[in-house]
Amino acid sequence: MVLPLFEGIDKAPNNALAGLSRSQRNLVREAIASDEFEGKKGKRMTLWTPGCNVILVGMGEKSDLGHKRARNTGARLISSMSKKKGLDITVRFTSGWSGERMIDFAEGMMLRDYEFLEHQEIDEEHITDPWNVDFQASSRHQMMLGDGLARVHAVVGGVHVARDLGNEPANVLYPMEYAHRAIEWAKGKNNIKVEVYDWDKLQELGMGGLINVGKGSERKPCMVLFALNPDADKGVQRPCIVGKGITFDTGGISIKPSGGMWDMKYDMCGAATVFGLMEALHATGYKHRVNGVACLAENMPSAGAYRPGDVFKTYSGKTVEVFSTDAEGRNVLADGLWKAGEFDPEYIVDLATLTGAIVVALGNQITGMWSNDEDIGKRIKKAASRSGEAVWGMPLNGQFRKYMTDSAFADIRNGSIGGRAGSSNAAASFLEFFVPHRGYDEDADKIPWVHLDIAGTAWGSGSKARSEGANPLFQYGVSGVHVRTLHRLITEG
Ligand code: BES
Ligand code: MN
Ligand code: ZN
Repeated sequence: MVLPLFEGIDKAPNNALAGLSRSQRNLVREAIASDEFEGKKGKRMTLWTPGCNVILVGMGEKSDLGHKRARNTGARLISSMSKKKGLDITVRFTSGWSGERMIDFAEGMMLRDYEFLEHQEIDEEHITDPWNVDFQASSRHQMMLGDGLARVHAVVGGVHVARDLGNEPANVLYPMEYAHRAIEWAKGKNNIKVEVYDWDKLQELGMGGLINVGKGSERKPCMVLFALNPDADKGVQRPCIVGKGITFDTGGISIKPSGGMWDMKYDMCGAATVFGLMEALHATGYKHRVNGVACLAENMPSAGAYRPGDVFKTYSGKTVEVFSTDAEGRNVLADGLWKAGEFDPEYIVDLATLTGAIVVALGNQITGMWSNDEDIGKRIKKAASRSGEAVWGMPLNGQFRKYMTDSAFADIRNGSIGGRAGSSNAAASFLEFFVPHRGYDEDADKIPWVHLDIAGTAWGSGSKARSEGANPLFQYGVSGVHVRTLHRLITEG
């Protein structure tokens, strides 16, 4: 049994002890009254009693319990618990807890309760059976708690779908495998439509971004189109989410150094978030239409690969001069963003592990954000911050546009004459170039658009050292970042 308690407590709160035996009650009372447990944040105390361990969890001051501390404390709690001691947990929220904070705490527990054991023999000692958690609160919170728990459970399911996709190695999850998984996932869901543009269809449509990046690989590229409630909201503008899905990024002919190349199996995390978001929206019963576009390719060097200096035509009709074959994400997104315009979306959000430079600029806990529209930028920032998935606004301006568009041989170049200087911004300007005007009418405004560079935030240490990282919401591998942000943005405005 888990009792999350606030700082300064010296007496067991009402109802905290209900159902416990007399000796258990006494132990808990004494522990709470003692100086050993003061409810300070980050402190825990486990009391062994026959039949059940009672874990006192320090939450810090009641007055400043924010969503972040509630969520992180829930996550750290579950990561400290061993299934060998039993799978049944009762979490009992007592006085001082608001319904919202209870749900944040539970969300943290659920987020952290994840492992990816697809391709290894599982230790005999290791228990894979799920936890069975009973959340308890006073009767006035019951309704809110019931609904809220069901909602976060469904959303976290989407985060875990994104993690599963991202954690798969590139030999297992290649572009058409992502497509097959999307088709499988859609089966039996009558308000989901999944459409796949395979190699032949890409040729037919002239999606030169995907074709050129993907043609050097045996595993051919594709575009996967998701629609949730495809028949709802006819003629109403709804969101469209676009994801970079490079299932492996060697750099191509502009090959990457081998150190760290291992991480490039994660270069499809934008597309993983799109898939996870669709799962989260579906599982929470969202009734409106949402479109998703995943741009999948494997970037390999080979006799058939594209080369620096090549000029190709994208789906938009605009041409790209290849500066580096390693700046492949923007090439595939050029086709995805242009495609998104066909849904006449209210706004477009793209997610991409786009630049190493954003990791240098913002580190591993903050996503870089660029937007051509202040309003949608603010809305994302708010949803991200409430979800504990911080984003930080970065600039789009004439200088970076010029860096990209002064190619002598094509309409735009996929690398910047500014070199490394501000290269995440230059990449964003490249994408901006492919954001369509409303109705593809040059005289209309561009569709509101946000670009999220998740190169720093999409995955963690990726080792099995299992050392506690800076982010307690996941242990290793993929974070599933921004499934929750976008779910909140779309469902709560
Ligand atoms: N997928 C990489 C970006 C990346 C690098 C993400 C390291 C996470 C960690 C992307 O395709 C890439 O290679 N970008 C280049 C762009 C450059 C060639 C203009 C980069 O960041 O160096
Ligand atoms: Mn690259
Ligand atoms: Zn890449």
